[in-house]
Amino acid sequence: MKHFLDIHKTDPADLRAMIDQAGRMKQARLDRPKGAADDTQPLAGRMVALIFEKPSTRTRVSFDVGVRQMGGETMVLSGSDMQLGHGETIADTARVLSRYVDLIMIRTFDEAVLTEMAEYADVPVINGLTDRTHPCQIMADVMTYEEHRGPISGKKVVWTGDGNNVCASFLHAAGQFGFDLTFTGPAQLDPEADFVGFARSKGSSITIERDAHKAVRDADLVVADTWVSMHDAQSARERRHNMLRPYQVNAALMAQAKPDALFMHCLPAHREEEVTSQVMDGPHSVIWDEAENRLHAQKAIMRWCLGV
Ligand code: CP
Ligand code: NVA
Repeated sequence: MKHFLDIHKTDPADLRAMIDQAGRMKQARLDRPKGAADDTQPLAGRMVALIFEKPSTRTRVSFDVGVRQMGGETMVLSGSDMQLGHGETIADTARVLSRYVDLIMIRTFDEAVLTEMAEYADVPVINGLTDRTHPCQIMADVMTYEEHRGPISGKKVVWTGDGNNVCASFLHAAGQFGFDLTFTGPAQLDPEADFVGFARSKGSSITIERDAHKAVRDADLVVADTWVSMHDAQSARERRHNMLRPYQVNAALMAQAKPDALFMHCLPAHREEEVTSQVMDGPHSVIWDEAENRLHAQKAIMRWCLGV
């Protein structure tokens, strides 16, 4: 069973093949209306369940559109509307869904929900974000970097702010795709040692630098994310903002990076908080391509899961 649970759990050659296929599929449908079918229909006859226990715009729409372009059908399910949210076990839900659908994508809180779903499902399961990781996002980010600047291997990526779920998947990708990553943020919000350890074990250079301006020096790619994630308590908002303010990505910070550096943000962004509009809408930013590439990258992920 080919689940797509995390970047560090997936073979690097398979990850590379998915990025390359995503690029080819994107090229093959340039200028086509969004609802037009792809030339090949690898998901014809397939039913995909998209389960959301947290809000989503990009993940929800890009998976739904991607499945349809490839000839499949989707059902979008809200966790709270399912029996899953009312006491049915994850294992039982996985067993039942496997009798109706060919593929399950789930966005949830606790990573254990994802892994239990995968353990008991007879169909592939895709991680659409948990409190700990967001692998589909970083597949799109790698694709976007390479589309603009060529191979990401050997490049310097700087993660600014909170060492959160998206940062974790960036660290996994550093190990699997062979790039270096500097984390700059407050010590209280450092990424988990496990994630850093994985990247280092694969030979990536991972640096922790508290001074944002020093960190960004000579960066090829600068990345920001929200200061308060969906799983963070709203009561921590003010404390987090106070800690994270020195890590805002603004024009002065971007000026430390290489002249042709890119800026990425998984979105949704909070303008003038973790990033200024000047950077988001400026010449370094590739955020709209990054959002679009969720669609193409996930289409390749789904094909890999189903072997089609
Ligand atoms: N980047 C991302 O996953 O966006 P959504 O929360 O809108 O799905
Ligand atoms: N770190 C953010 C990413 C949203 C796509 C969150 O988990 O809310």
